[in-house]
Amino acid sequence: MGQEPPLGRDQRFILGGEAVQTVKTLDMLRTAVGQLRAGGKRIALVPTMGALHEGHMTLVRRAREVADHVVASIFVNPKQFGPNEDLDAYPRQLAADAALLESERCALLWAPTAEAMYPAGFATNISVTGVSEGLCGAARPGHFDGVATVVCKLFNQVQPDVALFGEKDFQQLAVIRAMARDLDLTHPHVDAIIGVPTVREADGLAMSSRNRYLTAEQRAAAGALPRAMKEAIAALENGGAVPDTLAALESKIIAAGFSSVDYAAFADAASLQPLSALGKAPARLLIAARIGGTRLIDNMAVGTGR
Ligand code: PAF
Repeated sequence: MGQEPPLGRDQRFILGGEAVQTVKTLDMLRTAVGQLRAGGKRIALVPTMGALHEGHMTLVRRAREVADHVVASIFVNPKQFGPNEDLDAYPRQLAADAALLESERCALLWAPTAEAMYPAGFATNISVTGVSEGLCGAARPGHFDGVATVVCKLFNQVQPDVALFGEKDFQQLAVIRAMARDLDLTHPHVDAIIGVPTVREADGLAMSSRNRYLTAEQRAAAGALPRAMKEAIAALENGGAVPDTLAALESKIIAAGFSSVDYAAFADAASLQPLSALGKAPARLLIAARIGGTRLIDNMAVGTGR
């Protein structure tokens, strides 16, 4: 593979005097990562689909604590969107995202085109069974295949020492951990996959790029979701029956203005299998609900407050 020259001004976002180096081809990425690695420096990868918010910035800050350099990727991955989902509407704002990454001293932005990520003839699909099958996997067929396939590629492309993902996408994190373990992508390649706790708005709503789809009225109503989840957690921790607690949670969310609940589940935090009662193992409350045309997901630990 030929050596690329160092990146020039036109290949950078020049913002506020400092530049976020941005690369759009695999050769340029490898050259840039090689330069960052010089002297045995450790690289952290923060994969994203852009439309960055404080949740992503928290990932970048945490990444800086565990590595010498942070590489962020922005790629709106068509393979993880279903035919009737929001691929075309998904917000794209590369320059604004680059400015945010620069403000957090991210070293490199990997922003491949769809053609660079999936060249003509691309024919591979990574499918993680088990942990991907219920919850969002049931509601969004093929979604986690798309996630696993692109994250495997991102790991191979960047070859980070550590990769960071938000716990807001709790099932996604479980799928990625399983994929990395099963395909031997962990040590010495990606020696740690770190899950970072969800960042929330003042009213408790989990930060998400999709929150910007909400009207003012829907946004005000959406705060009911984390509130109802906290009430359900208190009920479960006080010995409330699981089916009754989940039914009450769903009713509160619908009463608040959500149009439907895809699922409300109480599950083992590792296997994501449904639990009939709170035991000693870490447990999680997970939910996906629709408000207007927007699907919101959230999850919280159960039992940690006992
Ligand atoms: O969580 C996301 O933003 C995406 O699912 C990811 C992990 C970047 C893969 O496209």
